[in-house]
Amino acid sequence: MNQFVFENSTKIYFGEGCVREHLNSLLNEYGDTVMLSYGGGSIKKNGVYEEVLAILKEAGKNVVEFADIMANPTYEKVLEGKRIAKENNVSLILAAGGGSVMDCSKAVSMAAAYEGDLWKDYWENVGEVNFEPLPLGVIVTASGTGSECNGDAVITNEELKVKTGRDYVKCNPKFALLDPVYTYSVPKLHMVAGSFDILSHIMEIYFSGPDEDNVSDDISEALMKNVIRNLRRAIQNPEDYIARSNLMWDAAMAEIRIIKLGKKLDFECHQMEHQIGAYTDCSHGCGLAVLHPVYYRHIYKNGISKFARFAVNVWGISEAGKSEEELALSGVEALADFIREIGLPTTIRELGVTDKSMLTEIAYSCNIATGGYKIMTHEEILEIFEECY
Ligand code: NZQ
Ligand code: ZN
Repeated sequence: MNQFVFENSTKIYFGEGCVREHLNSLLNEYGDTVMLSYGGGSIKKNGVYEEVLAILKEAGKNVVEFADIMANPTYEKVLEGKRIAKENNVSLILAAGGGSVMDCSKAVSMAAAYEGDLWKDYWENVGEVNFEPLPLGVIVTASGTGSECNGDAVITNEELKVKTGRDYVKCNPKFALLDPVYTYSVPKLHMVAGSFDILSHIMEIYFSGPDEDNVSDDISEALMKNVIRNLRRAIQNPEDYIARSNLMWDAAMAEIRIIKLGKKLDFECHQMEHQIGAYTDCSHGCGLAVLHPVYYRHIYKNGISKFARFAVNVWGISEAGKSEEELALSGVEALADFIREIGLPTTIRELGVTDKSMLTEIAYSCNIATGGYKIMTHEEILEIFEECY
């Protein structure tokens, strides 16, 4: 395994009732004014808003609201949050939502504590930074991104047509409350897309070197099987606690940095998806579902043994009578079949790219990841996009 340093400072409270049980005492550790941030209103429909607000009042906090955080949060929205946080001298940001709410709140926690141009100094020029963001706590309502236990905030700069993220250890939430029951109300498409995002995070790590015997690959295989099994179960019954709790912890396990240790990491599909998202505002998990099989058909020859191992260990495909190449391809096709089975899109058109001529501009705007089995060129990314059209 390669060298690594492991640090993860988020304190996680997991399980049914954890917000009721722990939020009040957690709030004691912070000042008087809490900024409650949330999205387009799902927390008002499922009772989470009422529950959290009552606990905030009980704890004697002044509450300032930062509402209407959109899916794929924009930098403009971050600046709005920064203004609210600064004007009200906020001492804790409490985010209740999915990845978009958590990411936007994380970005606000940085922007409110940073004096310069955060976009330029942080997202655009990925150099050294050293500053302490405002404290952030999160209440997760949708499983997928794992934003609850890392320092990543993925933000869209609409003006520049760039969607990008960056993991900064000081940006980890101070605490994260994960109640699987809160995810029961997530609509099916979001649940499936979020679960595919989990699978994608694991695959982006698994399909990268080093490939010698290592803990990460073994944990990753167990996690992928767990996601597949429990997503099927949650589709059957959205209120299945076992399924929802497994998916919630899978999401955290994929992004808590543990399985990334010692691995190079690919994340090229994420780079491509983020730019499709910057142009179309599509759902992150849906974008990944369209790209992964086509990307893997493109690169599998550069990591053929690993793709064969994926077929056998994750999808249970028999090795009998198959060459290594046939086995490798059968794993990719099992993934493609699964995407169809769970009802995610399979073409870039379904993501909102309605005009084929847009593909070139999007392809050439993508970052090139360097840790995967094959380093892409922009021409190859365009080929992949065209195959997905
Ligand atoms: O806005 P509200 O009303 O809350 O509705 C949301 C939204 O419409 C809804 N939702 C969330 N919890 C719900 C619920 N609806 C009913 N009941 C609930 N309990 O679900 C919709 C999607 O929410 P969103 O937060 O956008 O989804 P997700 O969690 O998939 O987050 C996606 C964002 O995270 C970024 C993505 O790029 C995208 O911008 N990512 C963040 C990462 C990170 N920070 O580590 C890594 C990922 O790879 C990803 O890039
Ligand atoms: Zn993702």
